[in-house]
Amino acid sequence: MVDDTRQAITAANKAAWQASAPLHGRGAQWQRLLENAARPGFSVLDAQLTATLKTLDPDGKSAVQIGCNNARELISLAALGIRPELGIDQAGAFLAQGRQLAEAAGLAPRLLEADIYDLPDDLGRFDLGLITIGVLNWMPDLAGFFRTTAGLLAPGGHLVIYETHPFLEMFDPEEERPFEPAFSYFERRPQSVTETITYDGKSHGQGETGYWFIHTLGEIVTACVRSGLDIVTLEEFGHTIREPDYDIYAGRDAQIPMSYCLVARNARG
Ligand SMILES: C[S@@+](CC[C@H](N)C(=O)[O-])C[C@H]1O[C@@H](n2cnc3c(N)ncnc32)[C@H](O)[C@@H]1O
Repeated sequence: MVDDTRQAITAANKAAWQASAPLHGRGAQWQRLLENAARPGFSVLDAQLTATLKTLDPDGKSAVQIGCNNARELISLAALGIRPELGIDQAGAFLAQGRQLAEAAGLAPRLLEADIYDLPDDLGRFDLGLITIGVLNWMPDLAGFFRTTAGLLAPGGHLVIYETHPFLEMFDPEEERPFEPAFSYFERRPQSVTETITYDGKSHGQGETGYWFIHTLGEIVTACVRSGLDIVTLEEFGHTIREPDYDIYAGRDAQIPMSYCLVARNARG
């Protein structure tokens, strides 16, 4: 992808996320998160991600989270004995919330405001790289994204991606017939988002226009391998990690894949 196009997309996405930040940093839910962060053993990681991380002998390992948002998941890693060292996100307003959460938890990870495609050279290398729900879809260029991500891993370090299954992206729960595919699995065009971005499935009015992408599982795996990482496991799940309106696709006899977890390893230097 041409650099100018990529930069225009990431700048638009930054504005879209920045505009939504105030909605996430106030109200009862935010207060509860802040209070919980101060409790020993705080974690927002679900049972699946926790179990996967435990297989990686996590105690004492250093971690970076790419697209860390308000750092609630980065901070949660401490409950597994992992050292949450670096969170990267281009939305500074969310990182400001992350600093509040980290302070409540008695932690001080470095929270870096930066576009993942334009990182400083000297960030260090980490035993664990974490990417969780809702990051890959904002990436206009998977190859560049994985190249950068792989460069943050120490030799022997693991990358864990726990994300929405791309197959689920074909469906829109708000459509009149939500079980009919609304998007092609192979859609290449960016999809614009004009509503303020939240996770509750409700409308919060117009925000800044951002652009997201459907990447097939094959494209994700290929970009990962081409970045020099070895794939350790790729597990697909029927459980949802999406907004509540996607619950209609879960717990069915004819179950579609809704999430996946990919573990890759930097076997080189
Ligand atoms: C859906 S949120 C991640 C939420 C997180 N998984 C959680 O559950 O708390 C996606 C994040 O990716 C960030 N992001 C999107 N494009 C980015 C880019 N090019 N560089 C850095 N961060 C980016 C956004 O600012 C946003 O905070």
